[in-house]
Amino acid sequence: MTAGAPRGGFSAVPRGATGSAPGKLYIAGEYAVVEPGHRAVLVALDRFITVRAAAAEGSGRISSDLYEDGPLTWRRRAGDSMAQAPDRAGDYVISAIRAVERMVLETGGGLRLFDLDISSELDDAGGRKLGLGSSAAVTVAAVRAVAGMYGLPLDDLAVYKLALLATDAVQPIGSGGDIAAAAFTGWVAYASPDRAWLRRARTRMSTGELVRARWPRLSIRRLPAPDLRLRAGWTGDPASTPRLVADVRAGARGDDGAYAVFLRDSEACLARLVRALEEGDSRGVMRRIEQSRRLLLGLSRTSGVVIETPLLERLVDIAREHGAAAKSSGAGGGDCGIALCPPATDAAAMCAAWEAAGIVPLDLSVHSRPGAAS
Ligand code: PMV
Ligand code: MG
Repeated sequence: MTAGAPRGGFSAVPRGATGSAPGKLYIAGEYAVVEPGHRAVLVALDRFITVRAAAAEGSGRISSDLYEDGPLTWRRRAGDSMAQAPDRAGDYVISAIRAVERMVLETGGGLRLFDLDISSELDDAGGRKLGLGSSAAVTVAAVRAVAGMYGLPLDDLAVYKLALLATDAVQPIGSGGDIAAAAFTGWVAYASPDRAWLRRARTRMSTGELVRARWPRLSIRRLPAPDLRLRAGWTGDPASTPRLVADVRAGARGDDGAYAVFLRDSEACLARLVRALEEGDSRGVMRRIEQSRRLLLGLSRTSGVVIETPLLERLVDIAREHGAAAKSSGAGGGDCGIALCPPATDAAAMCAAWEAAGIVPLDLSVHSRPGAAS
């Protein structure tokens, strides 16, 4: 049987398919959420990465404005062998193709070749990274597009799982919260899975079995949006999440007691934040944002890693002067900060003050896909 021929239950073979996924911002729970079962709250943004797939012959080409080294060519050694791009090891899109195709092969489908055209709204006009989760979004969008090429139906949880398996092979540090937000959209409460279990399970389960299995400690839930307007400001300094996470873990390990207290306090804060969101208690949400900020400042002190840079501190101070609750978002060390603004906040004045301080207000809102799973 030649590559590309439908087999098993795969009768419809489309010539093309499109997948898209939004960027994200962390609201609270950073760093704690990299530990299995610990929670974070994130939002998906109305800025997307779109992956368009089209059937190809001989080899596949991936073109993307995210690639600094130009388009990538991929092929298979033999008919149904895994996608390969030897000159670009560790590519999220190739890893996403492989994750979906393992499932296709297990269900008796034949593999195909296709071009992928990727466009991103997650960087600024100059192509600079804003820290809005482009790796997660491109992986989720690629999973959706490739699954579309095989007529493989996936719900949001299956998309999350395949994208997490794909990114775990490329960059194993990270909670996967960005993937959950990209797959589920809206306001999302996320508890990260037990990676050690996952890596063991990978050796004895097929991809399909893994996708259908219950993953210990994993929980993804959509939350109602509060009556608070999200504003984000960009510091202009790109930050490396894997490096910051590794440094915080290494620094905090020297003080196990303080790290355990941070994890416990963060969990208590997140439990209250989730409750406040579920109850529509905006004031409660704002209090938890402030508490989450204090916990991160404490983690900075015990680990010796700067999370809230001087510019992020300015962002927070200005937001508070305007009646909003604010903090760094994500790993910090640069990238973005967020402010949650009650209706009384003059958001335009706050953004003007940010700009005067050298912070770029980002024009974005929370994106909730209608009818997404909760
Ligand atoms: O800086 P970001 O948006 O990539 O967020 C990182 C959040 C951490 O909790 C520090 C790491 C993670 O993967 O959850
Ligand atoms: Mg970041």
